Amino acid sequence: MMLEKKKILVAVTGSIAAYKAAYLVRLLVQCGAEVKVMLSPGALQFVTPLTFSTLSKNPVFSDFTENKDSGVWNHHVELALWADLMVVAPASANTLSKMAHGQSDNFLLATYMSARCPVMIAPAMDHDMFMHGGTRDNLRKLRDFGHHILAPGEGELASGLLGQGRMAEPQEIIDAIIAHFHPALPLKGQQVLVTAGPTYEKLDPVRFIGNYSSGKMGLALATALAQKGAHVHLVIGPNHLKIQHPQIEVHAVESANEMLGACLAVFDQCQLTVLSAAVADYRPAQQATEKIKKQGDHLVLELVKNPDIAATLGQRKKKHQKLVGFALETTNEKEHAADKLHRKNLDLIVLNSLRNEGAGFGTETNQISLIWPDNISQDFGLMSKQKVAEIIVDAAIDLLKTS
Ligand code: C5P
Repeated sequence: MMLEKKKILVAVTGSIAAYKAAYLVRLLVQCGAEVKVMLSPGALQFVTPLTFSTLSKNPVFSDFTENKDSGVWNHHVELALWADLMVVAPASANTLSKMAHGQSDNFLLATYMSARCPVMIAPAMDHDMFMHGGTRDNLRKLRDFGHHILAPGEGELASGLLGQGRMAEPQEIIDAIIAHFHPALPLKGQQVLVTAGPTYEKLDPVRFIGNYSSGKMGLALATALAQKGAHVHLVIGPNHLKIQHPQIEVHAVESANEMLGACLAVFDQCQLTVLSAAVADYRPAQQATEKIKKQGDHLVLELVKNPDIAATLGQRKKKHQKLVGFALETTNEKEHAADKLHRKNLDLIVLNSLRNEGAGFGTETNQISLIWPDNISQDFGLMSKQKVAEIIVDAAIDLLKTS
């Protein structure tokens, strides 16, 4: 868990993006962080303390006193000094302005001014408010204070307008927080793509052609990459795995064509791609819209070739991008794998041999050889898929160093 024992104070202010802060808190807790949440008076218009106290498993702070008659004082200095990091998400234009000018007319701002820990800010507002000279000045000031500003994204805004102002996605904020606490991680701040699992090629509404791939090797790879600090896009075919990792973004697909589409959507932003999916080479030429009826003693299916995702990405890749593929061979293993590596323009190929018991589909273990473009290879013994994933990830990181 990448944020084990880290104390994170999340400050939520009055913006429609406040609902996304709930997901951020959930992800932080999943990463092992200890989380406390403050809500500004404006935030209370959008979300309730109960949502955040349930998710953070801690009381939520919104005022200096618990309630008017209780006489219980919430200590802003104590809370500020407790935190290892304060994250203001979403940060409204109003709160940004007050932070930049040292105003402290609510509990959240008083706590901010008392904080000695680093501060991360994820602004969220309408496009024109974000572009306003006042907001630009305030952000410049806050940057000069040493705060880390997470630039808002472009896209559709709650107002219906298009433009910059959308709060950074919770997953991006998590990536930035992890990078902050682990500056030495080799893949910090980088995006990687992993394909995994089988593909199902539809015959009719109730039948498909598939294979026995479980996706376990791909998930082990995705997890090992996330542990090195990467944000992982896991494009995965139908599976029964429980995938719940704050740095793994799952793109669920069914067919080879869908898998290719999902890969192409993120490939250009990924420095590293690992293709561990067992992609069907062929799909039915026709997909029947009605269930195919039982007829004579024979049924002939016509199949057509699927796109080769590895080869497509191999052609598309730029110099700074590295591509790792898998090969599952039964004869002349190394020769065939090396041929595949060259044909698909890969930078490394992982050879699984089905000859070895305990290696391959559905098992917990695997036995591999690594083969590089200069035909150098290295053989490994039978080991857990986790250990295999670590070896592959270390080799991939070495590839990135050479680009
Ligand atoms: O050609 P072969 O299927 O043996 O190549 C295996 C490698 O190519 C694996 O990395 C697999 O994920 C990838 N592949 C692919 N698209 C295909 C077939 C294989 O990405 N259509």
